[in-house]
Amino acid sequence: MSNPTSFNVAVVGATGAVGEQIIRLLAERNFPIKSLKLLSSARSAGTQIEFKGKTYTVEEAKPESFDGVEIALFSAGGDVSKALIPEAVARGAVCIDNTNAYRMDPDTPLVVPEVNIHKVAEHKGIISNPNCSTIQMVVALKPLYDRYGISRIIVSTYQAVSGAGARAINELLRQSRAVLNGDDVNPDILPVASLPVKHQIAFNAIPQIDKFQDNGFTLEEMKMIRETKKIMGDDSIDVTATCVRIPVVYGHSESVYVELKQDFDLKEVKSLLANAPGVVLQDDPANQVYPLATEAAGKNETFVGRVRRDLSNPRALNMWIVSDNLLKGAAWNAVQIAEHIAASRSNG
Ligand SMILES: NC(=O)c1ccc[n+]([C@@H]2O[C@H](COP(=O)([O-])OP(=O)(O)OC[C@H]3O[C@@H](n4cnc5c(N)ncnc54)[C@H](OP(=O)(O)O)[C@@H]3O)[C@@H](O)[C@H]2O)c1
Repeated sequence: MSNPTSFNVAVVGATGAVGEQIIRLLAERNFPIKSLKLLSSARSAGTQIEFKGKTYTVEEAKPESFDGVEIALFSAGGDVSKALIPEAVARGAVCIDNTNAYRMDPDTPLVVPEVNIHKVAEHKGIISNPNCSTIQMVVALKPLYDRYGISRIIVSTYQAVSGAGARAINELLRQSRAVLNGDDVNPDILPVASLPVKHQIAFNAIPQIDKFQDNGFTLEEMKMIRETKKIMGDDSIDVTATCVRIPVVYGHSESVYVELKQDFDLKEVKSLLANAPGVVLQDDPANQVYPLATEAAGKNETFVGRVRRDLSNPRALNMWIVSDNLLKGAAWNAVQIAEHIAASRSNG
């Protein structure tokens, strides 16, 4: 970034799985920072975090923490966002929110830069980052939507434990050691920390991410359904989802069936994907090349492979979409939006 304008920035949830990546990306991208506040709950207040060679002390997030803050990145859970974002906005901050709190609010843009960056201009102080599994899917589907139109999406996810935060990562590692040592597993966090029943995640697959809704879908599945329509700006797309937690630490994988509105040429589909912003096409079955969570971990892009015409419907495709949920699914998407805001303010 060449413009000298710099900003007072706050990261809320600085000690969490997403917050840690936001801080790393702000440093790596050389984001123009005048001052930086790292905020958490009272539990982690006092923790020291290094940022570009300087040590910062984490403070408890309070309304007055946002005095003078111009850009605030929130990833501390929906309740914290509901309580503190109005305080931050009232003090003049633009808030980029990683939680579910405002995503479906009609006044809040839900932004994936590769799909609808123009929506940022409509913000009234809050810009929502979509759910991680939704982000990577729409990044991959946007070029196909623009060229052919999409009538229907059926997605099944294979989601990493880091999607449930830092404690869930420890839970998988602890349980894996316990199973290998023949010890008791004692599930403690997953599938949903706030619910009474817990299941083993080590060496297992749990078909529940977030709470069940009255319609039999989980909240994670409903997020994919609603958010996809909002981001694409098209309520006519039919979406159904089944979201599953698997014992992977970083990187969500998705099997996606997508019905297009027009006939397509498979070579053109692959070329559109290969040239789409934020997408890396890894599709060479003869050489066993396809996206893998282990290889996507730590990268900002969305990886797409196993692209093939459906056998039951010639206007439909099947594909495998993988991305790091903490990066494109959260921190990188938020930092991209922050960079866009910084660039637009610097330019005018
Ligand atoms: N993980 C993902 O892949 C992902 C993707 C998209 C969106 N998100 C969303 O991002 C949010 C954070 O996720 P995460 O995975 O980073 O969770 P996490 O690892 O559990 O971290 C939670 C963070 O929030 C802070 N926090 C908790 N209660 C707070 C309070 N009352 N006031 C201020 N700070 C508080 C924690 O601080 P302490 O250290 O003090 O507890 C910690 O820094 C969630 O809303 C999640 O839905 C996560």
